[in-house]
Amino acid sequence: MKLALFVSGTGSNARTIIDRFQAHPEDGVEVVLLVSNKSTAGALTMAAERNIPTLVLNRQEFRESEVLLTDLARFQVDFIALAGFLWLVPAYLVEAFPDKILNIHPALLPDYGGKGMYGANVHRAVKAAGETESGITIHYVNERYDEGNTVFQAAVRLDAEDSPEKIAERVLRLEHANYWRVIRRLALAAHQEEGGQD
Ligand code: GRF
Repeated sequence: MKLALFVSGTGSNARTIIDRFQAHPEDGVEVVLLVSNKSTAGALTMAAERNIPTLVLNRQEFRESEVLLTDLARFQVDFIALAGFLWLVPAYLVEAFPDKILNIHPALLPDYGGKGMYGANVHRAVKAAGETESGITIHYVNERYDEGNTVFQAAVRLDAEDSPEKIAERVLRLEHANYWRVIRRLALAAHQEEGGQD
């Protein structure tokens, strides 16, 4: 099963996923491509160091189906995981990969989701509301921000004195521990449904 990762930033989730699947070929998931919308994303260096091909797309290339779909086909991509990817996924991509695109969000959706709710904004809002827990949501991607069907959630209890940075740290740890497992489960299931062998 061949997986593409989409990123915009640091790529600590992407790194965790790549390292897991490179160390465990028996999982049957191979990361074959890392797509970034930013040429400066730290994730590009990280992927190159791990011999993962990278592709940087500008907004126009991302909106027009040909460029991206051609590359995804060239690398025989079966499944996509967004890992800190900030652009809205266009309809053509959702249609080309039905129930085969996952996203991870650093809060318990449907709370603290939607446009503008990403990165530190999320954790600041959680802190400002005085929440006693936060967590992660892994969901399928549709054409609206953070609204696809949820497939996995995990929560972490917050202490009253936790700063937004501390919340971010605890939530990110949960992401790293869980995203690759959920990808493995759903990507392999989707692949088997299609009669795939590897
Ligand atoms: C993560 O918190 C993820 O939930 C969100 O963006 C962040 C990406 O972090 N969608 P990283 O680039 O994987 O370190």
